[in-house]
Amino acid sequence: MQYKIAIIGGSGVYGLFKKAQKVPMKTPYGKVENLTRAKHKEYDIYFLPRHGPKHSVPPHLINYRANIYALHELGVSKIFATNAVGSIDTSLNPGDFVIPDQIVDMTKHRPLTFFDGATKINFADGTSRQGVVHLDYTNPYCPKLRAQYIRAVEDVGGMVHTKGVHVCTDGPRFETPAEITMFQKMGGTVVGMTTVPEAILARELKMCYSTLCLITNYGAGIQEKISHEEVVELFKEKTDTIKEIMKKIVSQTELDIKCDCKD
Ligand code: HPA
Repeated sequence: MQYKIAIIGGSGVYGLFKKAQKVPMKTPYGKVENLTRAKHKEYDIYFLPRHGPKHSVPPHLINYRANIYALHELGVSKIFATNAVGSIDTSLNPGDFVIPDQIVDMTKHRPLTFFDGATKINFADGTSRQGVVHLDYTNPYCPKLRAQYIRAVEDVGGMVHTKGVHVCTDGPRFETPAEITMFQKMGGTVVGMTTVPEAILARELKMCYSTLCLITNYGAGIQEKISHEEVVELFKEKTDTIKEIMKKIVSQTELDIKCDCKD
């Protein structure tokens, strides 16, 4: 039996696997053309760079529904994502990793759900979901996958913050200092542009989902200016560490993990 996991790469996370095959997919939400598959022992590992292979798709234009639906169709049960984030909590520094446990959704313009009242979603276990669906979201990220990420970062000697509130904005601009001050007052730890609706859609389709956030900068107003180049630069610097973390994830992932995060 092959177990199917996916890695969704954020800014700067490309080409994790050398011998990867292209897996083009068509979904009711559109095509997914940047998905690849590598095999490792009893795993099929799908890799999806969410900004496209050349980082050409900005955060607010990513087709999150097509991406997550494609992984669902392929039978993926666990998603390990990565995100570039700015720190809102000034005790967290660029270069640190954060495995957030909470989300504050500050997006305004993104399709957030598969459940429009009409669409029926079928699951491999024979069940389906349709109509008015209100899911529990007490734990937005899978606690078991979070624990795996924490262990993997510790194993490679990275600086890891084991929880945090991930504030998600629409972007593509960075925030104003006033927004960062507001997020600080709300209890935010880091700010990024892509965890919503990705994490929500994965939960709707009953996939375990967790994210490895790399802090690339302090939030607006904490440092003087923010540039996309510095975000990409820091990711480049940490590419080898991220690859090591992903290798640990693949070798540590329990195949028959029992998890009730997605009921
Ligand atoms: N804000 C939003 N998204 C980000 C940031 C930021 O400061 N840094 C990296 N991604």
